[in-house]
Amino acid sequence: MSADPRAAALGPLRAAAQAQPNIALVKYWGKRDAALNLPVVGSISITLDSLWTRTEVRFVPGSTLDRFSFNGRTHDVEMKRVVACLDLLRQRAGVTWGAEVDSLNNFPTAAGLASSASGFAALVCAGSQALGLELSETERSLLARRCSGSAARSVFGGYVEWARGELADGSDSVARLLLPAAAWPLRVAVAITSTVAKEVGSSEGMRRTTQSSPFQASWIATQEADLTMARNAILAHDFDALALVSEHNCLKMHALALAAQPGLLYWNGATVECMHRVRALRREGVPVFFTVDAGPQLKAVCAPQAIEQVKAVLNGVPGVLDVLDAGLGAGARSISNAELTT
Ligand code: PMV
Repeated sequence: MSADPRAAALGPLRAAAQAQPNIALVKYWGKRDAALNLPVVGSISITLDSLWTRTEVRFVPGSTLDRFSFNGRTHDVEMKRVVACLDLLRQRAGVTWGAEVDSLNNFPTAAGLASSASGFAALVCAGSQALGLELSETERSLLARRCSGSAARSVFGGYVEWARGELADGSDSVARLLLPAAAWPLRVAVAITSTVAKEVGSSEGMRRTTQSSPFQASWIATQEADLTMARNAILAHDFDALALVSEHNCLKMHALALAAQPGLLYWNGATVECMHRVRALRREGVPVFFTVDAGPQLKAVCAPQAIEQVKAVLNGVPGVLDVLDAGLGAGARSISNAELTT
């Protein structure tokens, strides 16, 4: 151990945290500042429960090297973003120590399941705790946003709104809790239709869309109305209204991205067939709607009593490899050693 007096005062310099992915019902697509991850529009999401990222961070005084392992392997692709996130935490704490980061996911990554949201929310939570930074959820959300936009929302559980904000420094572009999970415990079935990493990541997809889609201005102009409708539906527990606005906003985001040059086509055949099946179920009176992010997985959000039927229908769609099932859960939080290894 080093003789750094700061380290002695801070204690073990190690902490672990868990965060879950969130699924946007009113989507974030497009950045007004790419360096600060400031969005062109606000967004609303739900945080899941049974899918998680668990991350352990250890700072090593005297070392300037960072090490990152993901599911037991070094991960060069994400290393740059992990180091950038650690730099924000180190800057805040006034230290330059290297860190060892070990992260585990219990769900397929990089295929539109928002692994960066749970990943960076967990990293900010564990890293800030390891450095003895006493941050509010709002401060953690601001830091997580800098690392990956949608991570700002996974700091909170349940129903969450991330404000676009107006300020150039991004200090008002932060997420907040709209409604706790227990107040309206909807369920989500995730139809996995591919486990291959997507061709165009969300940052590049957003950049291309903002630069070339002819629908960009209408996307921005109509988002406020969708946010208001979704917020009101959530606060009133109005499933039908939330279904209408969520499917509309999802299809609108994809229409915007499809019209970029070259067009961004995140769906495969099974994704589209799942959309038809979900709509057919709703026509039969089953409370369910779909949403799809920048990948081919389809997320079906439903009332708790409908989950088994929804899973069975999605499982029967040709091309669906698996159907995961989650409820709504808590925000990013510290976990013990015992939880880290179970
Ligand atoms: O935060 P990112 O870079 O993972 O982008 C997320 C983009 C969408 O998932 C498509 C929409 C959203 O609001 O989560």
